[in-house]
Amino acid sequence: MFSYKDIGLVNTKDMFAKAMAGHYAIPAYNFNNMEQMQAIIQACVETKSPVILQVSKGARAYADKFILRNMARGAVEYAHELGADIPIVLHLDHGPSFEVAKDCIDNGFSSVMIDGSSLPFEENIALAKKVVEYAHQFDVTVEAELGVLAGVEDEVCAAESHYTKPEEVIEFATRTGCDSLAISIGTSHGAHKFTPEQCTLVNGVLVPPPLAFDVLAEIEKKLPGFPIVLHGSSSVPMDEVNTINEFGGKLEAAIGIPEEQLRKASKSAVCKINIDSDSRLAMTAAIRKHLAEHPGDFDPRQYLKPARENMKKMYIHKIVNVLGSDGKLAK
Ligand code: G3H
Ligand code: 13P
Ligand code: ZN
Repeated sequence: MFSYKDIGLVNTKDMFAKAMAGHYAIPAYNFNNMEQMQAIIQACVETKSPVILQVSKGARAYADKFILRNMARGAVEYAHELGADIPIVLHLDHGPSFEVAKDCIDNGFSSVMIDGSSLPFEENIALAKKVVEYAHQFDVTVEAELGVLAGVEDEVCAAESHYTKPEEVIEFATRTGCDSLAISIGTSHGAHKFTPEQCTLVNGVLVPPPLAFDVLAEIEKKLPGFPIVLHGSSSVPMDEVNTINEFGGKLEAAIGIPEEQLRKASKSAVCKINIDSDSRLAMTAAIRKHLAEHPGDFDPRQYLKPARENMKKMYIHKIVNVLGSDGKLAK
């Protein structure tokens, strides 16, 4: 057993209580490599924001679970070196099974998600409850999900989303004992969240349908003070998409969640907002631009440095202008 407490990480309990009381949301940024981790920590230290570093099953397969755990340990020390003791959570994103969640709990994660959202209600409850019973013995917090998001969720692919049913949330939260609940209110994974046909053209800009704030409000009414999580919350900035396409990429009809919608959600019971695709776009745009403008460069540091800078800029922008978690440093 390797406890997260031994490497200076924290669970989500305190973080979410403060976010709920302060009407802001914690950034949950996915990472797969050193440059993403460095950019996240630099951004959070500069803005004095708490942060959730999250790792998907795919990230564990790509980078190796021990390397990622040691990178999280490095992230804590790196933050100290940069001069701020920011609270850092290491979270399993879209945990696919009890076994994977247990492996993370046994190996230094301070929080896990168990994603039974594609299962029937009773099976989702049984799986989440089993993970909660194990996790809570070690003070590890658990996120469970009710409702289905469209798009790819770490090898599970749903064509359509199904909003969370507010009438189910009390029973789900009570019977599972989960610490936070991911819900479906119109966000989805990836860079193609809406088709142009689903959007309305306003002043030359395609505006996607709004999130189901009425469903969110009903859920909040049923579970007052309970931390809610939004997955699939990248905004897919047009300038990054345009840069990618200008320098040889081919991203068509990439549309995300408008930032005003996420700003509004951050002020509600939504305490955690998941962003991965925007980091991928920022990294790819900077690398494509750099290589196109400097065709002779072949040292990875030459193109990964601007990529890291561009991701950092994006992470800071989200914290300050969307989530409102800047300056909320107290552990
Ligand atoms: O929700 C999915 C996250 O963006 C992680 O994606 O499974 O490709 O690492 P991934
Ligand atoms: P995006 O694809 O919108 O960045 O969502 C990421 C996510 O939900 C990770 O769990
Ligand atoms: Zn997700």
